[in-house]
Amino acid sequence: MPLSAITENSLALYGEYVNPQWVKLLDVLQMNVHYERCSGVELITSEGTRILDFLSGYCVHNTGHNHPAILSALKGELDRSGPAMLQSHVPELAGELASELCRLAGGDLKKVFFCSSGSEGVEAAIKFSRAHTKRYGLLYSNGAFHGLTCGALSLMDNTFWSEGFGPLLQNTEAVPFDDIDKLAARLSTEQFAAFIVEPIQAEGGIRVPSPQYLSEAQRLCRHYGTLLVLDEVQTGMYRTGTFLAAHQFDVQADIVILAKALSGGIIPCGAVLMKQEIYDSVYSSVKRAIVHTSTFSENGLAMRAGLAALEVLQDEKLGDRAAELGEYLRARLTEQLSRFDMVERVIGTGLLCGIQFKAPRKFGLRVPFEAFQRIHPGMFGQVLVMRLFRDHNILTQICGNNFMVLKVAPPLIVSHEQLERFVSAIDDVMERAHSSAAFWSEPLGMARRVLNL
Ligand SMILES: Cc1ncc(COP(=O)(O)O)c(C=O)c1O
Repeated sequence: MPLSAITENSLALYGEYVNPQWVKLLDVLQMNVHYERCSGVELITSEGTRILDFLSGYCVHNTGHNHPAILSALKGELDRSGPAMLQSHVPELAGELASELCRLAGGDLKKVFFCSSGSEGVEAAIKFSRAHTKRYGLLYSNGAFHGLTCGALSLMDNTFWSEGFGPLLQNTEAVPFDDIDKLAARLSTEQFAAFIVEPIQAEGGIRVPSPQYLSEAQRLCRHYGTLLVLDEVQTGMYRTGTFLAAHQFDVQADIVILAKALSGGIIPCGAVLMKQEIYDSVYSSVKRAIVHTSTFSENGLAMRAGLAALEVLQDEKLGDRAAELGEYLRARLTEQLSRFDMVERVIGTGLLCGIQFKAPRKFGLRVPFEAFQRIHPGMFGQVLVMRLFRDHNILTQICGNNFMVLKVAPPLIVSHEQLERFVSAIDDVMERAHSSAAFWSEPLGMARRVLNL
């Protein structure tokens, strides 16, 4: 059977057996293309179109797609035919990766629990914080995104994600992000096991807190006996310029959660870094040695991929690159886009950037903008994403909990030339948004057809 027939059949099977609604959504957005090869910053379709990835799978592909050194390390691991998931031995690669993660994270983070996703890491952090403090309350930030398992969902206030899934964890409470007084007031009740927070909110709209917020939060958490848990699932692994975003805020967390880019975007892997005394509260005796485990955690392929990804990130100095290119990109975007009525500002740290939009002031633009808003609050942003993709071959996405921010997060190996391509593409799309009736009328017609409005 030719490859194209296999592909077509597989796509049909996906639609039939996995998630037909996802297929429909991609069709509506005109983003349902078949990728044949992915390499570095480029996604190459079966028709030979080269698409620039400025989303990185939500910060998974920091080292670029299919980095040859990571592929080769994985091939070597497979060829070794070593032990994997025996659940009855000491997986030595997990020790190597854990020691490297603790060294890079610094502070008092001395133990690591491995898992296979960010959500699973959040679940572990919840359990460990409760076990250590013997309290049940959990504080989180408005606008946070921590994952879609029940515990993680209990730490998110956007009901889109939780509606219909029944009662979640008790005793969880949101405080406004970057508001130290509100945080202090809740911490002072001494009910909370942990304050779980992203150092820079990613899906919340690339929100960078004021410089003192996290160190002050740390001081208050210590004072009131609450653990500070940093969710660095998107911000970690040099995405913002330093190994952890925390390193830019002079804050030392009690627990740090990593996932996504940890294993080079190839094998699922997550890690929860913690202080010795938190580990001791959970794994307090030989009898409790396996009290919190997971079948796939510490598996050889994930650990090998993690070690290889760390080597690439350091050898290629991708942290420095993220810091330097991020600054360059934000300066170029600000320079190019500030003339547009609907651009509020360009935000971010390192290569976790965002373009924040606002409702237009001009009456002529306000009418179609509000028509978009009535259909769906994310429609404006999604049309920008669609245009960037369709007209400029660039993949992006808006933030999941803040539809007025377009996320700009290419792999950290991106070149100046590729950044310039993005700058001129978004400039063109914004120019159309501000001057072309078709920018608004075409999607409105499409939405009416699709949604039978
Ligand atoms: C900050 C943050 N934490 C946790 C998660 C959950 O990670 P996962 O999808 O691997 O479960 C995500 C996912 O996007 C995230 O952005």
